[in-house]
Amino acid sequence: MIYLAQILLIILALILIKLTVIALFFYQDIRSAQKRDPAAKSFIEILLLYQGLHALVAHRIAHALYKMHVFFLARYISQLARFATGIEIHPGARIGKRFFIDHGMGVVIGETAVVGDDVLIYQGVTLGGTGLEKGKRHPAVGNNVVIGAGAKVLGNIVIGDNSYIGSNAVVVNEVPPNSTVVGVPGRVTKQDGKKIDVSLDHKQVLDPIMQVIEELQKRIDSLEGRKNS
Ligand SMILES: CC(C)(COP(=O)(O)OP(=O)(O)OC[C@H]1O[C@@H](n2cnc3c(N)ncnc32)[C@H](O)[C@@H]1OP(=O)(O)O)[C@@H](O)C(=O)NCCC(=O)NCCS
Repeated sequence: MIYLAQILLIILALILIKLTVIALFFYQDIRSAQKRDPAAKSFIEILLLYQGLHALVAHRIAHALYKMHVFFLARYISQLARFATGIEIHPGARIGKRFFIDHGMGVVIGETAVVGDDVLIYQGVTLGGTGLEKGKRHPAVGNNVVIGAGAKVLGNIVIGDNSYIGSNAVVVNEVPPNSTVVGVPGRVTKQDGKKIDVSLDHKQVLDPIMQVIEELQKRIDSLEGRKNS
């Protein structure tokens, strides 16, 4: 009985040490989560319960192993983390400081993706490739970018600093800094705080179907105008 108590005490001590180490090494990431998630009540809640943080801790270890060319173990850790959190970050992905994944389930980040500092992403986001190409094939996300729930950012493109990607957008082209992008395929609707009128600025209209619809709408308006006059 006394042995069992001792073993339990040792396990408890190990868990406490592990949590303290994570809290020290990931202090900035936890604070960033606290700032960006209005639902976060305390430091300890994030430390113990936030899947995004747990996936990030696993990724930092897997990435270190990947850089040492211990590919199998790196991938093993990343798959274990995926099983536990629902977040799949390839060990090769380079992730900046104060990265926060809110909710997390369904996030996929590819091998050659690069994520800057202070980036926030929500559940269901993919930073992926567009096909079977090799080499650099995933996006580079700048600093201070927010990527909304379910958005897909695909290919070797750059998402400029301070940009917002709307939820469920599919982004396949470069995004300039300080932009807001929404839709499928994603188009810039705001830049440097100014709204972009996509019906006037045709270089911003990336969706050919939308262009045709706008053209048809114009013709309907003009026909209706003629009929009424
Ligand atoms: C895009 C986003 C960042 C808002 O940016 P904003 O600059 O404040 O944009 P606005 O709300 O002024 O909307 C601008 C236009 O884009 C449209 N829009 C906004 N978000 C959109 C989206 N995700 N997809 C398609 N259109 C969208 C608006 O309807 C509006 O259209 P209008 O100009 O024809 O009226 C925000 O809507 C968004 O998607 N944030 C992600 C949040 C998220 O994922 N939360 C998950 C919490 S669990």
